[in-house]
Amino acid sequence: MPFRDKGMTDEQLLALARQAAAKAYAPYSRFQVGCAIESTDGEVVTGANMENACYRLGMCAEQSALTAAQHAFGLDKVARIAVAGGTDATICTPCGGCRQAILEAAQLGGRDIQILCGSGDGSAVERHRIGELIPFGFGPANLDAGG
Ligand code: THU
Repeated sequence: MPFRDKGMTDEQLLALARQAAAKAYAPYSRFQVGCAIESTDGEVVTGANMENACYRLGMCAEQSALTAAQHAFGLDKVARIAVAGGTDATICTPCGGCRQAILEAAQLGGRDIQILCGSGDGSAVERHRIGELIPFGFGPANLDAGG
C-alpha cells in the first residue's frame, strides 16, 4: 500500500529508500538497492532490486519502484525519486537503464524529476535532476515529434 505524507523531507524519502534496500533480493551481487518515489500529491511507493539465477533477468530497484508508481498514481505524476544502496559511504546513482526509465516518466509528466542519491550507510547525499543524469536522452517526446 502506498502511503501519503506531503511534508516528507529529502532525508525521510532517502530513509525509506534505505529501508526498502533491506528488503532487496540480491543473493548474487550482495549489493542491495532501494528506491522511494514520491508523487506530485505526496504519495510514496518503494521498490528494491530483485535478482535471478539467470543473472540478466535481475531487476533494478528504480524499475521495481517505477512499476509500483505506475500502479499507484501513474508515471506522469512522479515528482521525486530517492535511491540508496550498498553498505558504505559510496553514493548510489541510477544505472544507465534506470535513467532511461526515469526519463520516460519525466517526459510523460513534463517535469525534470528530482533524484536524491544516497549512500547505503546514510552518510552522503547527492541531488540531481534527470535532465542532468541523461542529457540529450531519447524519450516519448521524440516519438511524438516524429508523428
Ligand atoms: N542496481 C540497482 O538496483 N539500481 C541501480 O541503479 C544500480 C544497480 C542493482 C542491480 C544489481 O541487482 C545490483 O544492484 C548490482 O549491480
